[in-house]
Amino acid sequence: MTKEEESILNGAHGEIKALALKTIIKIGESLNAERLVDVSHVHASGLSYLTIGDAGLVFIESVVSKNAKVKVFSTLNPVGMDLDDWKKMGISEDFAEKQKRIVELVLKLGFDPTFTCTPYLIRKPFPGEHLAWGESSAVGMANTYYGAYTNREGGPITILSAIVGKIYEAGLHLKENRVPTVEIIIDGEIDLTDPSISGALGIIVGEKIKSGIPLFKRNRLTSFEAIKSYTAAVGANGDIAMSVIDGITPEYKDLIKKAGELEKVHIDANELKEIVKDSIDYIPDVVLIGCPHADLEEILNFSIQIKDCKKINIPVIISTSRYVSNKLNEMGLLQQLEEKGVIFIKDTCPVVSPFVSLKFKNIVTVSGKSLFYLPRMHDVKVAIFPFNKVGEVVCRKK
Ligand code: F3S
Repeated sequence: MTKEEESILNGAHGEIKALALKTIIKIGESLNAERLVDVSHVHASGLSYLTIGDAGLVFIESVVSKNAKVKVFSTLNPVGMDLDDWKKMGISEDFAEKQKRIVELVLKLGFDPTFTCTPYLIRKPFPGEHLAWGESSAVGMANTYYGAYTNREGGPITILSAIVGKIYEAGLHLKENRVPTVEIIIDGEIDLTDPSISGALGIIVGEKIKSGIPLFKRNRLTSFEAIKSYTAAVGANGDIAMSVIDGITPEYKDLIKKAGELEKVHIDANELKEIVKDSIDYIPDVVLIGCPHADLEEILNFSIQIKDCKKINIPVIISTSRYVSNKLNEMGLLQQLEEKGVIFIKDTCPVVSPFVSLKFKNIVTVSGKSLFYLPRMHDVKVAIFPFNKVGEVVCRKK
């Protein structure tokens, strides 16, 4: 332990820092960590009142009551409602009060009011940088796409880590644990650049290997959107916080040398086509876009898909960050799309907000992660449809 760490532990920097470090050390010890590492960015998850309830609220209250403040740049995951438009979403006063209290508390701690699962769009991680992130989809992107080092932390640990700017050195913080464990081979022709299809790939990889680090040689997951969707889905359906992808993962060459001969798992293109069908046997109440939160590129792509249609015939809800929403507003695109009937929600998403089950029963999504979680969290029917064909369906005359 460094001198600084010892003095934090001895209480010289206050009771809450000592408690935070002690907890992180305890978890580290259970994972055989030998030391702590400094982190430069913490991303806290578990902030929706729907998922953490009163127990989570009490925990955050207790941390704030001890005058804690974040030590490093720290961002926040989506909460359970759009913080400006929650009434329009049908959120109850009671839920809103509790959610606002959680938000007020974490802002008091010094977290940035980002409320998004795409913190990498706000501050890009760099290769080899240690982070303590709590959102599985963001963790997957940090390790796989940006080459940063983070485990998937629980919500309370991210808050404690933000207070001391440290995390235990175990798991994916160590290079030897980042070596691929199984090679994935996709047989047959399929367009993996469509985020719905790469999301379905994540679901199948998670299902087949459950844990470990999948390797993709001769990569066909080439677009940012495809990797974003894949990493979110594979993290939802498996204990998989990193994949190693040729041409994408910064440490690819290094890691592949260390991997040697690996077990191969084959996935047939038809397995993906079975999940992402070109037709749906029911008329959806709504089409959901934005899990993980939609970025500018995806929204621009969708706006091109519906450019010739005056009004959409099936409601489309796009969940995004306030950062992207502000950009869309400046560009005038937010208003243009709203005039066509597109609904934007920010700060939240259909999985962590109660509004979905309040309003919808039959849903179409373009996200593998939503396909996994929506029926488990809400009493709804969900199908996944190719992202590149959503415009065609929602513009079709009934
Ligand atoms: Fe983000 Fe919600 Fe999906 S937090 S990854 S939009 S489940």
